[in-house]
Amino acid sequence: MPLFIISLPALMEKIKINDKTFAPYLRNNRIQAEIQRLASEINERHRGKKIAFLPVLSGSFLFFADLVKHIELDFEVHFVKYKSYIGTDTTGKVQKLLSPPANLNNRVAVIVEDIVDTGNTLKSIIPDVENAQPDELNICTLLLKPEKYDAFYPVNFIGFEIENDFVVGYGLDYDEAGRGLQHIYKLSNN
Ligand code: IMP
Repeated sequence: MPLFIISLPALMEKIKINDKTFAPYLRNNRIQAEIQRLASEINERHRGKKIAFLPVLSGSFLFFADLVKHIELDFEVHFVKYKSYIGTDTTGKVQKLLSPPANLNNRVAVIVEDIVDTGNTLKSIIPDVENAQPDELNICTLLLKPEKYDAFYPVNFIGFEIENDFVVGYGLDYDEAGRGLQHIYKLSNN
């Protein structure tokens, strides 16, 4: 006699990280569906070309790992690290901790961000990548806060446009905590 186990989806509840409460925002299955769409867009746009992915550490590590599972192109990976946030606020100053390679000739460079907020981090990364002279430069981000981004450079591949809430989970941190959460949560007032 077969045994049927009905599994109910895990309920998403509010969580507490240090002094702050976060409410459920984007479920992992929704995130994965958007990642597949983004990968298809990249595959279609760059068919036959060689890609140099530049994932921005640390926040993009989970997003990037899931994205490349669906990439059908020839690609290289060059992690870069630029840091601007402390707690839930941008410092405005961007520290460069790991630079892109000096030469990206004959490749399409794709900067992979977890989230584009003010765009300050991109403002530091883009000139460094342009100096490496790729054939083309694209930006791919899982999340974009359109009200805060001054759109100085086009973002070519966008997972979700979100409001100005501080979010955590799926690679994004609050003071280095919460990166391992599989769903994304947003800061809540209670
Ligand atoms: P920007 O330089 O203001 O565009 O911010 C980019 C970086 O700040 C991202 O790569 C994140 O590391 C961090 N960041 C911006 N908004 C959030 C957020 O809501 N949660 C967690 N980190 C964020």
